[in-house]
Amino acid sequence: MQSFPVFLKLDGAPVLLAGGGDAATAKLRLLLAAKARVTIVTPAPEAELAELARTAGATLISREFSTPDLENKKLVIVATENEANDRGIAEAARAAGVTVNVVDRPALSDFTMPAIVERGPVTVAISTGGAAPVLARQVRGLIETALPKNLGDLAGFIDSFRGAVKSVLPTATQRRKFWDRFLSSAAARQVLSGDEGAARRDMLALLNRSAAGEVTGRVAIVGAGPGDPELLTRKAHRLLQEADVIVHDRLVSDDILDLARRDARRVYVGKARSAHFRTQDQINRILTEEAGAGHLVVRLKGGDPFVFGRGGEEADHLRAAGIEVEIVPGITAATGCAAAAGFPLTHRDHASAVTFLSGQGREGGEADIDWRLLAQARHTLAVYMGIDTARQARTRLIAHGRSPETPVAIVENGTLPNQRVIRGRLADLPDLLEREAVASPALIFIGEVTGDPIARTAETAIERLALAL
Ligand SMILES: C[S@@+](CC[C@H](N)C(=O)[O-])C[C@H]1O[C@@H](n2cnc3c(N)ncnc32)[C@H](O)[C@@H]1O
Repeated sequence: MQSFPVFLKLDGAPVLLAGGGDAATAKLRLLLAAKARVTIVTPAPEAELAELARTAGATLISREFSTPDLENKKLVIVATENEANDRGIAEAARAAGVTVNVVDRPALSDFTMPAIVERGPVTVAISTGGAAPVLARQVRGLIETALPKNLGDLAGFIDSFRGAVKSVLPTATQRRKFWDRFLSSAAARQVLSGDEGAARRDMLALLNRSAAGEVTGRVAIVGAGPGDPELLTRKAHRLLQEADVIVHDRLVSDDILDLARRDARRVYVGKARSAHFRTQDQINRILTEEAGAGHLVVRLKGGDPFVFGRGGEEADHLRAAGIEVEIVPGITAATGCAAAAGFPLTHRDHASAVTFLSGQGREGGEADIDWRLLAQARHTLAVYMGIDTARQARTRLIAHGRSPETPVAIVENGTLPNQRVIRGRLADLPDLLEREAVASPALIFIGEVTGDPIARTAETAIERLALAL
């Protein structure tokens, strides 16, 4: 960190602004928004600046800067748009012990002004320490789109209830949990959508229940996506930062767990095949007990929790135990890996159907599958957990009429830095897996869409020509 970030209170503070052009006008606006008592000194004020100063009651002195202007000032902002003048005023300010910023001249400044995103009292300041202002502007754009327009109203709403919450919930931990819960409640969404009346009613109900100790924990069953942390949903990210306890699988990477609140407790319940670390019953019990103790539990699963993730079983169990459950979808391995490997799952010319299937049956054996249906051409198969049963799958598909030449792709560690994509044909699938020593997690794709794109295009062109003839 090159500079120390602070938010300075300027309410009623005397500030000198030297300059009269566009840059000075922009700074005047910010200073007035912060309620500073502004004196502007410039020999040639532009009309816009003069008008702004007049309407806001700022003092405008129409002459060149002189050192006595610095007297009793808390800050000086210099924007004369003339390097020699900027330098002279900055030196005078430093000699007088007044903190100075010269617009667009970080070398002459004691402090720099960040790019900002504002939503009422919520202010996000972004700095690159002067290294890349363009990047700061891009980051500001990203944050602008990420923050809801009415976020300032939400901050005001919370502020109006702070006293009441403090009197009802005496400990800081109780209050933190209450506010976390409020932020994911209907009341918070109502504030953001402008319905403050309904929000107040719901808020009072929530507060009363909390005061009576009626608020219990809950479980969010959250999909973490295939591995790349950037493929997390915003909701998953938010819940990770709110969770008291995170119960996670083997497929959830450290990079994703690092996004969680620092003091969240992590419980690993990974199920390495044939060495079950925790049985499903034990996992269900952990979830029930943690939520029963009043915690927000994030049950974090690789991919999507409802795609070969037992999310449905866990949700049923929790609901039967009377525990509130929220499901947050994630990008499943099939869509994540296909995108990362660069082929589509459907294509108007090559596949009009896609099936996600498990290579393993309930007790680890072969899955109970209608191979005749899956053997149709132009049908993409995405086989999860399919390494061990690939030989049978290949044999059954070919026996039911799928061409041995059908292209296949194996994506190992899809979307992660160590991703591998191995291509071949259906007839060779088991040998390919063996020769390349493919290890879990890997997804097997079978279908024309996985073939070489140039060959695919050429094939389509030939077929169109044949049809035309
Ligand atoms: C128990 S299933 C969980 C699937 C997960 N719920 C989903 O929606 O992706 C585990 C299997 O998903 C596939 N898988 C998960 N993450 C993967 C990745 N990053 N790359 C390749 N395959 C992956 C593998 O076939 C792995 O054996």
